[in-house]
Amino acid sequence: MNNLFLEGKKKRMSKREKIVIPNAEIERQKGFLLDIKNMTKSPKFAFIETYGCAQNVNDSEKLLGMLSMAGYEKTLDKEKADIIIYNTCAVRENAELKVFGNIGALKALKRKKEDLIIGVCGCMMQQEHIADQIRKKYKHVDIVFGTHALYRFGEILKNVLTEKERIIDITKSDGVIYEDMPISHTGTVSQGVSVMYGCNNFCTYCIVPYVRGRERSRLKEDIISEVKSIAEKGIKEITLLGQNVNSYGHDIENYIDFPDLLGEVSKVEGIERIRFMTSHPKDLSDKLIDEIASNKKVCAQLHLPIQCGSDNILKKMNRKYTKEEYLEKIKKVKEKIPNITLTTDIIVGFPGETNEDFEHTIDVLEKVRYDSVFSFIYSKRKGTPASVMEDVLTPEEKKKNFNRLLEVQNRISKEINDEYENKEYEILVEGESKTDINYLTGRTEGGKIVNFKGDKNLVGKIIKIKVTKAQTWSLFGEII
Ligand code: 5AD
Ligand code: SF4
Repeated sequence: MNNLFLEGKKKRMSKREKIVIPNAEIERQKGFLLDIKNMTKSPKFAFIETYGCAQNVNDSEKLLGMLSMAGYEKTLDKEKADIIIYNTCAVRENAELKVFGNIGALKALKRKKEDLIIGVCGCMMQQEHIADQIRKKYKHVDIVFGTHALYRFGEILKNVLTEKERIIDITKSDGVIYEDMPISHTGTVSQGVSVMYGCNNFCTYCIVPYVRGRERSRLKEDIISEVKSIAEKGIKEITLLGQNVNSYGHDIENYIDFPDLLGEVSKVEGIERIRFMTSHPKDLSDKLIDEIASNKKVCAQLHLPIQCGSDNILKKMNRKYTKEEYLEKIKKVKEKIPNITLTTDIIVGFPGETNEDFEHTIDVLEKVRYDSVFSFIYSKRKGTPASVMEDVLTPEEKKKNFNRLLEVQNRISKEINDEYENKEYEILVEGESKTDINYLTGRTEGGKIVNFKGDKNLVGKIIKIKVTKAQTWSLFGEII
C-alpha cells in the first residue's frame, strides 16, 4: 500500500516539476527583453488587440509587461505602432474569422512600414492547421506563437529583429507555469488574477483543453504576492481566473483547495471584493457555497455554466451532471446565499439536439431565473469529438431556438432587475459609462451595472446609491 502511495506521489510531483519553468530560464528570457531594449530605438510603440476570455486578457497583460521591459510603450493607434500583436481566441469560429479578416487588413500597413513587426498568438495559433494557414497565406505576419510559448516571447522577438526571419513557435509542451516574468496590470478598479491554467474536462464541443493544456495551479504564495501588489495600487476588486477554479490545488500534493484560497486572498489588506470565474457545476462543493455565504469579501455572485438543460445532450457534451443534479446545486446555493446573482453559459444547437431537448433548456431558465445568460450557437471545432457528431436541427431551426432563448431570458432579466427599483446598494464605481459620458457606471456586489450622475473622483470608490430605474441589462440610480 505504502509503496503504491509513494509511487503515485512521486509521479504527481514530477509531472508538476516538468511544467514549472526554472528561474534560470526566466532570467534568460528577461535578458532577451533587455537586449531588445538596448539594441532598438526609443520611443517605440506596441499595439495589442485581445480576443476572447479573461484568461486571454491576462495573457495580454503578460505580453504588455514583457514589451514594456523591452522598451515599448502601449499605443491604441495601429499606424503609430512598431509592433502589432493579435492575441486570439479559438472557442468559436466567428472569433477566428474576425482575426483572419483583421490580419489580412494589416498587409497594407506592412507595405507602408517595412519595419513593422506583426505577431499573432493565443489559442487559435496553438492549432496546427491555423498556424499553417498563416504560414502559407499571410506572409506579412512575422511571428506566430501559441499559448505555451508566451513566456518565450522575448527570445522570439529578439530573433525576429536580428535575423529578419519569420518565427512560428507552436511547440506543444502541454502547458507550462512561469512566475516572476513582468506583467502590466491594466485594471484600474478591478483586476483579473490567474489562479490556474488549462482544463482537464474535455467537454466534447470545446477546444480549450487542446490549446491550453492540462490543469495546473499556481502556488498560493505567488497568487497572494500578485494580489498584494494589486492592492498596493489602490485596487479594491479582483477576479480569480481559471477554466475550472473548483479544481484549484488538485494537481499539487496536500494542497489547499479553492475555498481555502478564497479565505487566504480575502486576508489581503485593501482588497474588498473578490469574484471568480469559472466554476464547473460537477465540482461545485458545499464548502465553496459556504465560503461565498460566510466570507464578506467574496461577492454573492456565481457564474455556473449549464450549457444545456437536456440530460441526453449533457451526456453527449461529457458534462458529467444531469439537469436535476444541477438544479439541486442551484437550490442549495439559493438557500444559503439568498441575494446571489446567478449567470450561466448556454450552447444552442449542439449536434443531436432536438426541439424537445431545447425545451429542457427553456425549463431551466424558468426554474433558475438567472440574472443574465451568455448564449452561443454551437460552433464546430476541428479535432473535438463533437465535430463528427450529426446534426438533427437545421441552421434556421437553431436560430429560431436561439432567438426564443434570448426572448425568454430578456423577460426574466427585466423582471429580476425591476425588483431592484427603490432599493439601496453599495456599488464600486468603475468609470464613465460607455454609452453616455454624462453618466458614471459602477457595479453592485452581485455584478449588476448601475449608471448614475456623479463626480469622476468617485472612480475606484465604493459608494451607496438608490436604484431609480431598471432596464434589461443595467440599472439607473442616484447617489444617496
Ligand atoms: N460552440 C459554441 N459555444 C462554445 N463554447 C465553448 N465551446 C463552444 C463551441 N464549440 C461556449 C461555452 C463555454 C463558453 C466560454 O463558450 O458555453 O462555457
Ligand atoms: Fe471547455 Fe469544458 Fe474545460 Fe470549460 S470545462 S474550458 S467548456 S472543456
